[in-house]
Amino acid sequence: MLHHEQVVIHTGERSGLPVMVAIHSTALGPAAGGLRLWHYPDWRDGLADALRLSAAMTAKFAVAGLPGGGGKTVVVLPGRGELDPRRRRDVLRDVADVIASLGGRYATGPDVGTGPDDMALIGETTPYVFCRPARLGGSGDSSPHTARGSLAALRAVGRRLYGTASMKGLRLAVMGLGRVGAGLARLLAAEGAALTVTDIDPAGRGIADELGALWCPPDGILAADVDILVPAALGSVLTKQTVPELRCRAVVGPANNQLASPDVADLLHHRGIVWVPDHVVSAGGVINAVSTELHRVGADRAQARVLAIETTVDELLDTAHRHGRTPARAAEELALRRLRGASAPAGSPAPRGRTWEI
Ligand code: PHE
Repeated sequence: MLHHEQVVIHTGERSGLPVMVAIHSTALGPAAGGLRLWHYPDWRDGLADALRLSAAMTAKFAVAGLPGGGGKTVVVLPGRGELDPRRRRDVLRDVADVIASLGGRYATGPDVGTGPDDMALIGETTPYVFCRPARLGGSGDSSPHTARGSLAALRAVGRRLYGTASMKGLRLAVMGLGRVGAGLARLLAAEGAALTVTDIDPAGRGIADELGALWCPPDGILAADVDILVPAALGSVLTKQTVPELRCRAVVGPANNQLASPDVADLLHHRGIVWVPDHVVSAGGVINAVSTELHRVGADRAQARVLAIETTVDELLDTAHRHGRTPARAAEELALRRLRGASAPAGSPAPRGRTWEI
């Protein structure tokens, strides 16, 4: 069964590449979610990713208590390597056309493979885009806010496990040193955490040296002897095969889609490992963008909303503990409650067709 309200697949007029926008739910408000430019073995794999990621965005908004819905855009890139600048512009204009055609039901933002300058280009065609550079009136790079929000989530878990929200002396393994991962590693290092880091790009070693962190090859990090594992790269690192290898007490990080399948959350629970859903941990970027660009709150209030992820995680851990459930289940129930609360009474049509007022 298709659980999504709308899925649009276009072969880009200029680029010839598949552009896919998945709108999972607009029950709480119009949909938002980043634009991912990535390589997949087949366009259908990209579609599967868009479907999963957009559903996670619905949960992200619902748990964060924000009036937005879940969406995502995926463009499946050919071969390996980077796009040359012209081709990239063509792709972005193709994406912008599809977003414009949705008339405000969905707005995009940065994600894996895209940043503020790409959003600026999309903004030349359609206003439904977050995180354009500040000089163009956007809120700019969302990754520092995602990193801060992730740190807030880590504090809640640190308090639960060790009785202190401080990261000082805590042993953390950060997997992935992209914009969010490197930013988070810097915040953690500044607070005196004992860091082990890795990235598929060996250039990450430079960041490790700069931060005084231990470097570990990517295939060794899951089994690192640490307090908390922090996935901050691409998804599906937690599988039936990898969970038995873990030596940490918690897995808390901003990478999307960390679980290969939902039942892996139960495996982690049975091993006594706390797992906080990635959509809760990584909400900082979208919370800041929506708060500043739509709700027009000042930087301080937006930041406070991002830091409130700590309270959200606290409450989820509490509920999970009290009811003997996984935090994943507690988050799902909270999201469903909010989504149900928003839906119209039985018999009347679902609240579809909401658009962003940008
Ligand atoms: N890629 C991030 C997310 O999916 C950030 C984002 C910010 C997305 C603003 C959309 C809008 O949460």
